[in-house]
Amino acid sequence: MLIKVLGAGAGGGFPQWNCNGPLSRAAWDGNPDVTALTQASVAVSADGERWALLNASPDIRQQIIATPALQPRTDGSLRNSPIRAVVLTGADVDQVAGLLTLRERQPFTIFASRRVLDTLAANSIFNVLAPDCVARLDLPLGEQRWLTDHGQDLGLYVRPFCVPGKIALYLEDKSAGAGFGTRDGDTIGLEVGNRAGMRFYYLPTCAVLSPELAACLEGAPLIFVDGTLFDDDELIRQGLLDKTGQRMGHISMNGPQGSLAAFASLKVSRRVYIHVNNSNPVLDRRSPQRRQVLDAGWEIACDGMEIEL
Ligand code: MLT
Ligand code: MN
Repeated sequence: MLIKVLGAGAGGGFPQWNCNGPLSRAAWDGNPDVTALTQASVAVSADGERWALLNASPDIRQQIIATPALQPRTDGSLRNSPIRAVVLTGADVDQVAGLLTLRERQPFTIFASRRVLDTLAANSIFNVLAPDCVARLDLPLGEQRWLTDHGQDLGLYVRPFCVPGKIALYLEDKSAGAGFGTRDGDTIGLEVGNRAGMRFYYLPTCAVLSPELAACLEGAPLIFVDGTLFDDDELIRQGLLDKTGQRMGHISMNGPQGSLAAFASLKVSRRVYIHVNNSNPVLDRRSPQRRQVLDAGWEIACDGMEIEL
């Protein structure tokens, strides 16, 4: 199974278009201590020919340009694409906006929870992906589903499961209390595997490592985990945004409730942070925070990272 990180950044990417904070500034200036990141997405393939994307980021066109395996095959028809499926883990802008780039009557299949499919259905702009061309299939929570595209088996399965998180920002119901109307299926994690028994977990958004989630991940060969923030209040302290990570549905790396502590006792062979925000000091290669994360046995994803299982 081949895994390519197309983008390792959080919503907005790094640098973010309107951000003049110290890290984005370093990226704008070409400082060699930082490397730009597009918005989070991973491509997976069982055979190296047909690919499934985990989320469709707003940067998908740039990601395809950077990834020859996702470009039309020279021996294919006049219009063709190796991208055969898109599996969505939520309906946030950085998870679904790239679907609009995949218009042009190219068949593929979208897999998502009922909640996310309902959001796509309620936004008529997604009808640029004509239903007679782009199938939309429900992923029942907890059930393993083999990915197919218009009857063709892709040799990969996904098993979606509930992850503590939040409804998409633009769907928040401020009158609905602390959860803003969040329901099961708004944020899912994925187990992804193939017929040879290889598997990994993808959790680009996760607010808490619950006991259920820990039990699910125990023994995994590879996990990608929400690496949005280092400290829960870093956006506030940096003057960038008046929100904590918890308010945005993201666990932070540091602190007693953070992912470094929460995941420390999990037996996982390879742990990789993804969806790293432009405020996170680990983006600076010289930072003590990056050293702390690497010393704790984590990797920090970058665009173009490749893993074979
Ligand atoms: C998030 O991960 O919190 C979202 O990407 C926020 C957004 O919609 O940009
Ligand atoms: Mn996001």
